[in-house]
Amino acid sequence: MKALRTLAWIIVFGLLGCQSNHSSLSAAGPQSKNIEWLYWLIFWICLAVFVLVMVFFAHGTARTKVDEQEMAPVMENPEGDRRARVAVSVAVTVTVITLFVVLAFSIVTGNTVEGLSSKNPVTIQIIGHQWWWEARYPNPQADLTVVTANEIHVPVGLPVVVLTSSADVIHSFWVPNIQGKRDLLPGYQSAFWFQADKPGIYHGQCAEFCGEQHAHMGFEMVAEPVDKFQNWLSQQRKPSAQSTDPSVLRGREVFLTHSCVLCHTVRGTDAGSKVGPDLTHLASRRMIAGATLSNESGSLAGWITDPQRVKPGVLMPANPLPPDDLDALVTYLRSLQ
Ligand code: CUA
Repeated sequence: MKALRTLAWIIVFGLLGCQSNHSSLSAAGPQSKNIEWLYWLIFWICLAVFVLVMVFFAHGTARTKVDEQEMAPVMENPEGDRRARVAVSVAVTVTVITLFVVLAFSIVTGNTVEGLSSKNPVTIQIIGHQWWWEARYPNPQADLTVVTANEIHVPVGLPVVVLTSSADVIHSFWVPNIQGKRDLLPGYQSAFWFQADKPGIYHGQCAEFCGEQHAHMGFEMVAEPVDKFQNWLSQQRKPSAQSTDPSVLRGREVFLTHSCVLCHTVRGTDAGSKVGPDLTHLASRRMIAGATLSNESGSLAGWITDPQRVKPGVLMPANPLPPDDLDALVTYLRSLQ
């Protein structure tokens, strides 16, 4: 059975070149397990139907002999007609019953997936932007609220409630290994639950066309043990790192005197705009630009200089800085651990 499943897997997805890590078929949470189970149920039913249709088709073709020279005479065959009527009725009945069985299992799976809840969940606010993800971990004490972008940390084995909204158009939050898709609607708040059971880094993707860079609206979900998650959260609560290194200080100056401050926040400085991602702990993140580039000095410099080249249409304008300033700015941003 395992070998058969693997073979089916290879045929369906191997040929399409999909990666196993970004897939509903490698479930890492209770809800995605339910969805995976439903997927395989429907897959095997469809495979059985396909094989049956092919067998009957081959059988019928083999029995029918057509003489190319002469037209086949039309013959009355009441017995054959009766058999055909019975066969068609049986096939229709079986089809309808099968579809209802699939419908019933879909409803049951939907209810199970919705059924997760807890009195004391981890709460995350997710706000969709063209084309990046804002994640907030609210705290009753406002200055302890964590704001980050494109990298969502969650504790393993604990229910998480996500409050969703959108700043512009409809987006859809989707981490295939963890949960089904969830639409983020502008002007409308909604909530959903999920849980990650296996530690790991799971790729997430916007799943609703939202403009030119929809395909580059990715994020990463980092599922980690509870103590690691708590450490991450307390690190993120701190204001930005203060360095006395001259090149970092110079970069900070560049940051605060150029257009960066018109859109970004770095807590602990005068930069407090909320148009773009919060950069207070930028260097702690693995990726930048909606999980499009890895967070390294080179890609950061390229992104700052000409973001339109990486993501045409992105709201961030080009920043043609002199090389020394750019170097210093990148050094500063890389210091924001
Ligand atoms: Cu946001 Cu597609």
